[in-house]
Amino acid sequence: MILPTAELLDRIPTPVYFYDLDLLEATLKALTEAAGTDQRFRVHYAIKANPRPQLLDIIKSYGLGADCVSGNEVTAAIEAGFEPGKIFFAGVGKTDEEILTALHAGIGCFNVESEQELYVIDDFAREEMMTANIALRVNPEIDAHTHRYITTGLSENKFGIPMSQLDRIVGIALRLKGCRLMGLHFHIGSQIRNFDSFKLLCERINALTSHFDRKGIHFSSINVGGGLGIDYDNPDSEPIPPFSDYFRIFRENLNLAADQTLHFELGRSVTGQCAALISKVLYIKEGDTRRFAIIDAGMTDLIRPALYQATHTIVAIDKPADAPVMKYDVVGPVCESSDVFATDVALPELRRGDYVAIMSAGAYGEAMASRYNLRDLPEAVFSI
Ligand code: LLP
Repeated sequence: MILPTAELLDRIPTPVYFYDLDLLEATLKALTEAAGTDQRFRVHYAIKANPRPQLLDIIKSYGLGADCVSGNEVTAAIEAGFEPGKIFFAGVGKTDEEILTALHAGIGCFNVESEQELYVIDDFAREEMMTANIALRVNPEIDAHTHRYITTGLSENKFGIPMSQLDRIVGIALRLKGCRLMGLHFHIGSQIRNFDSFKLLCERINALTSHFDRKGIHFSSINVGGGLGIDYDNPDSEPIPPFSDYFRIFRENLNLAADQTLHFELGRSVTGQCAALISKVLYIKEGDTRRFAIIDAGMTDLIRPALYQATHTIVAIDKPADAPVMKYDVVGPVCESSDVFATDVALPELRRGDYVAIMSAGAYGEAMASRYNLRDLPEAVFSI
């Protein structure tokens, strides 16, 4: 992505999320081309990754639907102009108010995560004289080989309906008058770079759909969730995720019937590379064993390194090519030892007032910012 110059940054407050909207558009072009012309493939954007209205506006214009996990996200999707029928609502703990918000908005599908939730949605739908389209979220017991906090498809995770209960709960869903069972939903985790997990997911789904076909139960939609990872180590060489390879896995391995739609809920791979968190160097501190670059961004602005031991490439902005290279621990100002962006990272010699860019921060960056320590929320600027 194209970073702003130090001269421009001198005129805006930091820390700041810098969004490269051209890169977002290029990513969406690549995504929609890779998804291809097969009308059965339907891509939704997982709003949780980044709900910025400026981004939603562009994403919607490429025809994507929205994947939401709260009533407020459903409202944000509606306000951004996503077609209600293309809005899906997932989450293990939907409140009564959220269910009603989504019902009244006329969303396309509730991804239901438990038997009890099914009854609650059915009750509300009947009270409102409506029918709720639903999919049952299945926990497929597949290891996504990613960080344990972003693995969702194992039996120890809180997500989805265990496969052992699926027959029974499908039977219930088919009998409910307020619900129309559309299909099955899966999501095995996030930041998945090893496509074998997706292949395994296809095989699991094929087995399940043929099992139900034999019982005379045919689903009109299959939802494989999100999870496609991005390259945090080489954002410049892979600014656009490998969408073609990703969709090919499903095209080649999933037995999709002619009358079935296949839904994807991609978050990180859509917006992840289009933003950097830009921060000013406050102090350089020589410790006894380490050299610290203390910057004005902290874990409150980007929590991924502290929460998931995630690594984001850090680059110094506008430093001369012949500047000596030094090793730094790049740390934030928050009163927590985990407020560290990188350890032992080689950077051109930094001075107070220099700027660094923490790359690949467009997904789960600004969206997860907090006001801990009563810090201000980060600002955002957009390339034009
Ligand atoms: N669908 C469902 C049901 C999900 O739970 C998620 C993400 C997605 C789709 C989108 O997944 P993606 O394509 O973005 O991988 N904060 C963490 C990631 C949490 C992901 C939560 N669920 C991080 O910064 O790595």
